[in-house]
Amino acid sequence: MVVPALFKLEPKESLEELYDFEKELEELRRGYEDGRIVAVLGLRRMGKSSLLRSFLNSFSIPHVYIDARRVAVATGRATTRGFMEELGRALAEFMRREAPLRDKLAEALRRVRGVSVGLSPVTVSLSWGRERADLISLLEAVDEVVGRAARRLALAIDEVQELRGIGVDIPRLLAYIYDNLHNVVVFVSGSQVGLLYDVLELDRPQSPLYGRAVFEVKMRRLRREEAVDFLKRGFQQAGISINQQELEEAVDSLDGIIGWLTYFGWSRVVGAKSLEEILDAAARQEAEEISRFLAKSRSEDRYRAILKAVAAMPMRWSEIKRVLEAEEGAAVDDRNFTDLLHRLEKVGLLEKREGLYAIPDPVVRLAVERYISKAPA
Ligand SMILES: Nc1ncnc2c1ncn2[C@@H]1O[C@H](COP(=O)(O)OP(=O)(O)OP(=O)(O)O)[C@@H](O)[C@H]1O
Ligand SMILES: [Mg+2]
Repeated sequence: MVVPALFKLEPKESLEELYDFEKELEELRRGYEDGRIVAVLGLRRMGKSSLLRSFLNSFSIPHVYIDARRVAVATGRATTRGFMEELGRALAEFMRREAPLRDKLAEALRRVRGVSVGLSPVTVSLSWGRERADLISLLEAVDEVVGRAARRLALAIDEVQELRGIGVDIPRLLAYIYDNLHNVVVFVSGSQVGLLYDVLELDRPQSPLYGRAVFEVKMRRLRREEAVDFLKRGFQQAGISINQQELEEAVDSLDGIIGWLTYFGWSRVVGAKSLEEILDAAARQEAEEISRFLAKSRSEDRYRAILKAVAAMPMRWSEIKRVLEAEEGAAVDDRNFTDLLHRLEKVGLLEKREGLYAIPDPVVRLAVERYISKAPA
């Protein structure tokens, strides 16, 4: 069975593969032309990476694309070494794509301490030990070369929050770029609360980025008719006929989140029988991720209680607190409690809308209902 391009599970790489999001693409273009820092904001699976990659690839924008999740995957957790390796790889890819700039870039980069460049094939390695490559000089060198060619470089860091803990001060680095490297536009992606307030610390007057303009591009859910159209087109490409009722049930369950619609389409094409089977498989996967997050946290039981409560129905701050207190049989400190809710918001598991906290992703909600228990197993 051939999986149609629309239902490919990996992030989409070009406009031909991308469904719609024209307004968001136009906003990215404006951010690239007029802005200095562009933030692509959205929950998981809403298409942030696809939008960013398709934009950079299809508009021939000179770009260095760092996937911060890969930094953590290579070494188990994000480390300076992992980051330097990923940055070297991203720079080499950039040089391979930009043939006219290649020699100038190689020459400029070779002058930077801790950087070595090979040309056939193109490789860039950055040392990460005691003689750690000088990031600022490296970026200055690239800025100068692209500037002389009258181009603007997009430095894209997908899922930038994963870089915390690698010993690079992200807000300070971005503020430096903002103030000094006028041919570099930074693109970052992540969840709204986590990215803007946790990583960039835009609301903290002490933050190096405080008061700097960040251009926001917000991902959105597909509207009902768009979601139906998306699935129809994919199934048509696959040559599979699927009845209207099943399509509508899928769309109702998946709440316009493009990643889940894609997963549904893919699963159905490769042989899953029913919506229920697909939802359950997705919920199990999510439950594993949630469990990993819970196991790492210091307030595992409290997070479980909160998630269980709001999975049943959206609730106010005070209502959730009452549930938690009933659970524990003791009063819970207001500040601590608020911190717990914030943490869940930052990782995208909770969302606050009109005073009510809810789990915004229908599959995560299902995962909590079915596979997360109040107490650890
Ligand atoms: N515009 C689109 N058209 C078609 N498929 C898309 C589109 N956007 C995203 N997808 C598909 O949805 C899934 C999630 O997309 P993507 O990985 O880009 O989202 P994300 O927001 O970066 O997610 P994550 O938080 O997991 O990194 C992928 O399977 C991708 O192929
Ligand atoms: Mg992504």
